[in-house]
Amino acid sequence: MALTYSDYLVLPTLLDLQHPRSEPPEHDEMLFIVIHQAYELWFRLVLHETDKLKRDLSANDLYGAISTSKRIRTIWKTAVQQIDILETMTPLSFASFRDRLDTASGLQSLQFREIEFAYGYKRADLARPGSPLPGYEKLQRRLGERSVMDHLLDLLDARGVKVPAELRTRDVTLGTEPNLALQDELLRIYHEQPELVILFESLMDFDEGFQEWRYRHVKLVERTIGAKLGTGGSAGVEFLKRSLFKPLFPDLWTVRYRM
Ligand code: HEM
Repeated sequence: MALTYSDYLVLPTLLDLQHPRSEPPEHDEMLFIVIHQAYELWFRLVLHETDKLKRDLSANDLYGAISTSKRIRTIWKTAVQQIDILETMTPLSFASFRDRLDTASGLQSLQFREIEFAYGYKRADLARPGSPLPGYEKLQRRLGERSVMDHLLDLLDARGVKVPAELRTRDVTLGTEPNLALQDELLRIYHEQPELVILFESLMDFDEGFQEWRYRHVKLVERTIGAKLGTGGSAGVEFLKRSLFKPLFPDLWTVRYRM
């Protein structure tokens, strides 16, 4: 029998994965479930593309890296806008089924942490025993992997850029730290190598988009639950505000004041 659309996409399984828990049913719970599932699918694709971005960078494939990076930032910017859909849900409507979430929280999204780790925002304690993340063992692979920044240094190295030796031998389980000597090189590249600038600016787009997601999410949370504690046990909005404006590529941001 010929392969069908439904078989190829395994639609019966996909469309059987939405299980609202409110009794009697609360209309908006379906929206809440679908939007989170859609986000997890976008996260999955971002991770898939990010693995390719790393390969492109280490293979010194600049045009491959630029096109992959542009795809990632476009997925992300599109995903950020989807918060608009959830903002059509009123605080009262959310309150009608919030209890059903029990202790479930986006705080436990492994893929979101994987994305953070892949882009160099690493926190080893999240991947070790005692972590608040159920299934944290899955994060250990990402913790030990080089971040996008490390792979970017491969590409720069292959193009004759003087990459500081301490960055090449750094402990990859640690987060990205700004480096003054690297910033000198980045500044020179901004003046002399426009083809690399296209890549840098695309990475900046993603970085800015990631911060934009945090901002849109915290505002969504504030307008939906105000100052209530999170279902994940955090202080909610006040907790989320702490990671606002956290850059993924600090050198690319810092070097701008010298331009
Ligand atoms: C009405 C909608 C939402 C509310 C009220 C809400 C609330 C919260 C709160 C209060 C936290 C802090 C952790 C805790 O639970 O104590 C949190 C974290 C988080 N939420 Fe949401 N959220 C909503 C929608 C979403 C959506 C659509 C996503 C998409 C996947 C998402 C993903 C996350 C992630 C990844 C975190 C961890 C952020 C971090 O640690 O930096 N949330 N959310």
